[in-house]
Amino acid sequence: MINTTRSSRLKVKISEVDFKAIIAQALTNLRNLEGAHRIEIKTTIEGYIPFYSDADQLAVIFSNLISNAIKFQHVHEAHPRLEMHIEVDKTRGVFTFKDNGIGIPKENLTKVFDMFFRAPGNAADGSGLGLYIVKEIVRKMKGKIFADSVVSEGSKFVIELPNKIDPDLFRKLEQLMQNSK
Ligand SMILES: Nc1ncnc2c1ncn2[C@@H]1O[C@H](COP(=O)(O)OP(=O)(O)OP(=O)(O)O)[C@@H](O)[C@H]1O
Ligand SMILES: [Mg+2]
Repeated sequence: MINTTRSSRLKVKISEVDFKAIIAQALTNLRNLEGAHRIEIKTTIEGYIPFYSDADQLAVIFSNLISNAIKFQHVHEAHPRLEMHIEVDKTRGVFTFKDNGIGIPKENLTKVFDMFFRAPGNAADGSGLGLYIVKEIVRKMKGKIFADSVVSEGSKFVIELPNKIDPDLFRKLEQLMQNSK
């Protein structure tokens, strides 16, 4: 019994990813987080090519990064913001999360991905696992993750993941695009 559960949980399920649904669900789940109502969240999606990946794992990534932008917003910032940008092409998806929150000192930029790491003096709730889990998912999916930040100005996280779109499907879509021109 335990084995079945474990193996089904570890199995990668590839399907077309509905980013709008993933983000809407994450925002619903996070609506009671302190400061959630204060932050303005914008999403832009570029490209017409569908993105194929493990939607459940992608939901974990989005949920963690959105929750961090909510938790680490600047209390003195009149307009706390998170801008999410999604760009998909034939081979990959690139997801950018840019906030104008408290920022991360340069010396902590790599440490934030360590298990249980939380910046000293951190007032928000949390266990320091979110970004570690995100990094692990990205590693398993053979993707990349970068962080950049300026203290008191904001942080930017960029995640790149392979697009597991079936090459035949991609060719068909391309033909459709050609024919409609
Ligand atoms: N967008 C951000 N702006 C500023 N600091 C951040 C941001 N994201 C992460 N950090 C810093 O990195 C630390 C690690 O982040 P991580 O998501 O792993 O843990 P957490 O949010 O504290 O806890 P958990 O995600 O387990 O609830 C945070 O505690 C915070 O100090
Ligand atoms: Mg977190």
